[in-house]
Amino acid sequence: MAIQPGSPVLSRNFTIPTLPSVVQRLQKLLEQPDAGVREIAAVVEEDAPLAAKVLKIANSSFYGLREKVVSTRHAASVLGVRVLRGVVTQASVFKQFEHLDGVAFDLDALWRHSILCAQASQFAGRRARGAIGLAPDELHACGLLHDLGKVVLLDNLRERYLELVATAQERQVELVVVEREALGFDHAEVGHVVATRWSLPAQVCGAILLHHAPRERTLAEPAALLVERCNQFVHACERHGAEAAIEVFDREALRALGLLVRDVEELSEFVQSARGSVEI
Ligand SMILES: [Fe+2]
Ligand SMILES: [Fe+2]
Repeated sequence: MAIQPGSPVLSRNFTIPTLPSVVQRLQKLLEQPDAGVREIAAVVEEDAPLAAKVLKIANSSFYGLREKVVSTRHAASVLGVRVLRGVVTQASVFKQFEHLDGVAFDLDALWRHSILCAQASQFAGRRARGAIGLAPDELHACGLLHDLGKVVLLDNLRERYLELVATAQERQVELVVVEREALGFDHAEVGHVVATRWSLPAQVCGAILLHHAPRERTLAEPAALLVERCNQFVHACERHGAEAAIEVFDREALRALGLLVRDVEELSEFVQSARGSVEI
């Protein structure tokens, strides 16, 4: 899904973050069939703080490793290179926005939400019997980056964006509603611009764009529908508890994705346990 030339997002000349070079290099390596764990680990190890972060995440209880991983190479061989890529993407993208730490916006909560959405999307992708069109690790990337547009808006608009967040809370409406009214576009469109600039697969860009879209637009795009429902599922878990969130997967969505109620019950258990072990 290409960016429309007349997109109001583009007319704003926002500062758009670049795809961390370590992720670009990992991506290239993973495309080579003969790339080994040692070369992949070496790319991450060049950036010592990033490598330390990657080890911290890899050793979090979420991955349930029996032994502690002590090097990136060790982590790559135990977790597998695709999982490692997800961990590195998480660590390096979040690191790019560390300068926003003092801003009155709960960035930690947003990152936690993004990680849970990534893990939920990956889990649901593994269970889906329908043709989703994206591999579980790509669905992980969709979930991880779906709300990145919020962070880009915060970075560019600062106080103005904080006002929009406060307005949404006061009016008890979704932030996208206020964004559309005030800016003429929303964070999903901004995230889509970022993902497209990063040359992520078209379906990943599409899922980011459509994560607040109405059903008539997502039904024809199973990856987008899956990420859209997982986002709502994680929100519902946060607001009403994991049990109540099961209803987020209505019959139409279950049918379109090839999921059973039993899968969603297991997703609910999975998200409940993952919530306690998220490491950012
Ligand atoms: Fe969103
Ligand atoms: Fe979200």
